[in-house]
Amino acid sequence: MSAKPTIQFSSLDMPGSGVLVLLAGDGGALPASVPADAAGPLQKVLTVAKFKGRSLSVVESMAPAGSPFDRIVVVGTKGEGAFGEEDWLKLGGTIFSKLKGAETVCVWTEGAAASASATDVATIGLGLLLRAYKFDRYKTKKAKPGEEEEQSETAMTVTLATADPDAARAAFAASEAVAEGVAMARDLVNEPTNVLTTTDYADRIAALADLGLEIEILDEAKMRELKMLALLGVAQGSPMPPRLCIMRWNGGTEGDAPIAFVGKGVVFDTGGVSIKPAAGMEDMKGDMGGSAAVVGLMATLARRSAKVNAIGVVGLVENSVDGLAQRPGDIVTAMSGTTIEVLNTDAEGRLVLADALWYTQERFKPQFMVNLATLTGAIIVALGSEHAGLFSNNDELSARLHAAGLATGEKVWRMPLGAAYDKMIEGKFADIKNVGNGRAAGSITAAQFLQRFVNDVPWAHLDVAGTAMGSPANEYNQSWASGYGVRLLNRLVADHYEAG
Ligand code: BES
Ligand code: MN
Ligand code: ZN
Repeated sequence: MSAKPTIQFSSLDMPGSGVLVLLAGDGGALPASVPADAAGPLQKVLTVAKFKGRSLSVVESMAPAGSPFDRIVVVGTKGEGAFGEEDWLKLGGTIFSKLKGAETVCVWTEGAAASASATDVATIGLGLLLRAYKFDRYKTKKAKPGEEEEQSETAMTVTLATADPDAARAAFAASEAVAEGVAMARDLVNEPTNVLTTTDYADRIAALADLGLEIEILDEAKMRELKMLALLGVAQGSPMPPRLCIMRWNGGTEGDAPIAFVGKGVVFDTGGVSIKPAAGMEDMKGDMGGSAAVVGLMATLARRSAKVNAIGVVGLVENSVDGLAQRPGDIVTAMSGTTIEVLNTDAEGRLVLADALWYTQERFKPQFMVNLATLTGAIIVALGSEHAGLFSNNDELSARLHAAGLATGEKVWRMPLGAAYDKMIEGKFADIKNVGNGRAAGSITAAQFLQRFVNDVPWAHLDVAGTAMGSPANEYNQSWASGYGVRLLNRLVADHYEAG
């Protein structure tokens, strides 16, 4: 992540220089508090631009005559009352995109009609930070002259001016924790596999102990002792050793059952012996996107001292292919005792999660488990990158995830489960097989497979193959990896599972 803006808060004191950002309401109305020397020259600019204040539309005025500002940026918020969390986030992102080269910026968050609340102001700040994220650590040269550069390399300070700066500053502390968690998840997904090996990944997780998380890392010997042969079968074709990482955050009441998040961490998915086609295979460096969301979430909960007991569990393996790799037709016994015919070695995520889910419920007896996984190409066919697929045995948990999705913009769409689909994974030689029948209901049969390992614990599976990476850039994400899931689950926790 390259230089991010410094964000600070002030009361509504109009600055005398730098870049001024104003929020305009319906018809381009400016807040009354904007002084005449700024508002006067601007009116003509807005009129000429036929600016109507439409949400997130922008008019810029460079070095306006008779005004002390280098630049005035006006952003529309038409109908501020209807502005939700994601709109404020988009507003922050849109503002950042207009600040190239700026050093001192004031965002005047008092609108013409309603004004941003302390939480809204904090969310604008989060939008600025998420938009500023850039994964450029392997670019040895700066952009060539004339090429678009999203962000200047000069240090930028953005002051958010608001009626109650103390309240906004307090709310922003949590937003900053979220920004760090999202950036971490994006970094992990963007990193190539030769850098983010299973062991390097585990080392990065171990370093989160600095935030107050309790970290435990199980190696292959330990997993063999626990009989995690489904997970180990995937790992056996790679020289990279598998790891199961457990993160604990004990911010809640002692003795309260924890909530648990489980992630698929396939650092690269070649498909194994059932090898994938070459075209696009490079994207499989992101097949650990589910685990990255869990790690980013746990870091966020720790950074904002969330009042909850939470567990994060991620299974880290490489699905590669060598002479020792498992073959189609191999039969493995999962930790739960269930036997599995591995008919397609490319359906490996469910094998990793089978043991991670069983272990999590057996050891921690959680209130619920949410797992995230880039599990199936079929979910991209079904939902694209607009929604993650949600599969669950629990209506309350589903409804809460759905609401958190709408609030944050990290949306989920519930898909069915049922006995008829479960029948499609019955094995010929073993209890179950790791694929369904051909391509029919591919995401659902994958979810049915996972459900075999949750033992009636309230559970939700998010298939994030379409949302974790490769989604189109938007106002608050310009990077290949989105960090999907961190904000969604942080909102779920904040809204329903924190004491006090
Ligand atoms: N990691 C893939 C799913 C995936 C595909 C994620 C595209 C992101 C983008 C998963 O391990 C996989 O290969 N699934 C197979 C399952 C099939 C063999 C039953 C798939 O979707 O084709
Ligand atoms: Mn696969
Ligand atoms: Zn995979």
